[in-house]
Amino acid sequence: MMKVDVKIWAVSALLLACSPSQDTGTEEGKDLGLSTYYKDYFPIGVAVSPSALQGVQAQLIKDNFVSMTPENVMKSGPIHPQEEVYNWAPADKVAAFAKENQMKLRGHALLWHNQAPDWLFVDSLGNDVSKEILYQRLERHITDVVTRYKDVIYAWDVVNEAISDESGQFYRDSKWYQICGEEFIAKAFEYARAADPNVQLFYNDYEVINPVKREKIYQMVKGLQDAGVPIDGVGIQGHWSVYEPSESTLRATIDRFTGMGLQVQITELDVSIYPKEHAPRDKNEDDDDTFTDELKQKQIDQYDMIFRVFRENKEKLSSVTFWNVSDQYSWLDFFPVNGRKDYPLLFDEDNQPKEAYWKVVGF
Ligand code: XIL
Repeated sequence: MMKVDVKIWAVSALLLACSPSQDTGTEEGKDLGLSTYYKDYFPIGVAVSPSALQGVQAQLIKDNFVSMTPENVMKSGPIHPQEEVYNWAPADKVAAFAKENQMKLRGHALLWHNQAPDWLFVDSLGNDVSKEILYQRLERHITDVVTRYKDVIYAWDVVNEAISDESGQFYRDSKWYQICGEEFIAKAFEYARAADPNVQLFYNDYEVINPVKREKIYQMVKGLQDAGVPIDGVGIQGHWSVYEPSESTLRATIDRFTGMGLQVQITELDVSIYPKEHAPRDKNEDDDDTFTDELKQKQIDQYDMIFRVFRENKEKLSSVTFWNVSDQYSWLDFFPVNGRKDYPLLFDEDNQPKEAYWKVVGF
């Protein structure tokens, strides 16, 4: 009799373990929210626009994330469109939401070659300014923006994407580089440190999984550190895909930056359903954007692997941030292929958790 009971118990336990609600790793089938499952690992953040801070997405953000990054509104173009004009309102809205909900806030980005305002680099005649003028403008920009959000931002992406994707070229040939040479990178960190002695200062870049680019980033960051430049961390963007990185590449990427005495954060995570491309192009007839069952499974497996590696590296990672909230809207719907829908996040087009979500929290 006893034996039978035990068997029945074991069978029901097994059935329960396989039922959808238990598969979630949740208590009594209740979803605790992404960040709660990871509270002993690392804070999980999300990139937001002010429009995401109302309605359904606002609730989703509050339920699942403990940190935010403004997707666009603190970039130099949007926030400082003309020399004497700051557009603070959208950025203030993100800062206020973070404060109201006791969320961490990452600032993004003080210096980037993209979404920089035209006025920054030219004089009234349209000619390039000297590097002295450019530094004056940069210093003022960084001082004003960092000072304004000093009470709420704990970390800034100070320089974004300064390293070239070309294997034969070290620095990106940007307007910054053309006018200043490599020195602008150190200057930006120094201005940020002067504006806020306590905020953490990051260098942030993509394609860090590429060994050649990774090594350039490492060398640059090491050079800054050796020169006494105030840098606190490296941001690995993490715009990945169901096809990359492999587990060993991901481990090698994280490991390269540990042991430097710097923080390492994943700052812009998404897992595209397409093979990765980094240059914009038009959509063509071969661009099928069906999110097939096979791709869904690939994405589940990729997210599963990525978060397993993250958890195993929790001592090395101080934060993980997703780039956008749900598949309802992702920047990858427009880039690199304009109009090709992507499904790169853990929440679906209706802002509901995807199977990949349950996999990520079910450990
Ligand atoms: C993207 C935004 O998501 C888009 O809305 C905008 O049109 C372009 O920039 N790397 C970065 C981010 O550091 O700032 C970029 O964000 C995505 C790639």
